[in-house]
Amino acid sequence: MLFWESAVIPFGINIYKNEAKMKYAMESEGEAKRLETQAQQKGYQLEGELAGIDLPVSGKFLDAGCGSGLLCRYLKTQASSREVWGVDFSDLRLHQAAQAAAAENLNIAFQREDLTRLSFEDASFDVVFCRYVFEHLARPDVVLKELHRILRPNGKIVLINFDGIVVNMHSRDQFLQEQLEQLAKGYVGDLYIARKLPALLAHHKFGDIHWLTSCMDFTASNRQEEALNTRSRFEFANEVLCRIFGGEKQANEFKTRYFSALDDPSTTIFYTKFVVEGTKR
Ligand SMILES: C[S@@+](CC[C@H](N)C(=O)[O-])C[C@H]1O[C@@H](n2cnc3c(N)ncnc32)[C@H](O)[C@@H]1O
Repeated sequence: MLFWESAVIPFGINIYKNEAKMKYAMESEGEAKRLETQAQQKGYQLEGELAGIDLPVSGKFLDAGCGSGLLCRYLKTQASSREVWGVDFSDLRLHQAAQAAAAENLNIAFQREDLTRLSFEDASFDVVFCRYVFEHLARPDVVLKELHRILRPNGKIVLINFDGIVVNMHSRDQFLQEQLEQLAKGYVGDLYIARKLPALLAHHKFGDIHWLTSCMDFTASNRQEEALNTRSRFEFANEVLCRIFGGEKQANEFKTRYFSALDDPSTTIFYTKFVVEGTKR
């Protein structure tokens, strides 16, 4: 049985609860599997993202918005002396993350938390990661304030995001171009937030801010993989698409145009990955 097919919490892994009522656009049974598959796709791999980052081999690490827990598992596998915590507000993904960690005998603490009001005490963590989460947040400022609060002085924050994810596309279909703008405007988060992260960190009094960018260009071989990934994204976020486009019929028309544009070799699609680091002063 695959870990995301079971909802049983493995013995020895703690899942605590608190109140969290917000909803994630792609909330779905299949989202953990999508995240795990995505992590195998070219350009989405953790090894590349973390390559230039100097991380301690011990101390307390938090993955904020951990999803299926792949980054937690990676951090713990790289150095077992680290105390790794993964938090998310989806019970479903926390169960799935706990299953996956247990399958690898990794001792990781998973806990239900809303990033806008974390239950951790001030200065509890040495390193905080937040990967592929900020573009989905309605209140990024509030979350960054919380992440700053729970970091120890001189603690490190690492934010990983794609700028223009899904929407950074140009096709010959003018109507689709307008729909892409509508999608970016109507989305609860900000699909172009990655370029703004250094300024957000500075605003929240982080120091030693630096970042690396890389371009993910979907050309021949990885284009099909990304099309499949986005098919799942759109399927899981269908409710959101219907709201943005004004109904099921309009959302379906958008999806049809989107995937036919991807089949056109003259359509460009590329995202810019930002790996942004800062230090709590
Ligand atoms: C795109 S997934 C990324 C998961 C993981 N970080 C990864 O790299 O695969 C975004 C995750 O953030 C979580 N999330 C979004 N907003 C949140 C919030 N306000 N509080 C807690 N978790 C949140 C979602 O439930 C989802 O699991």
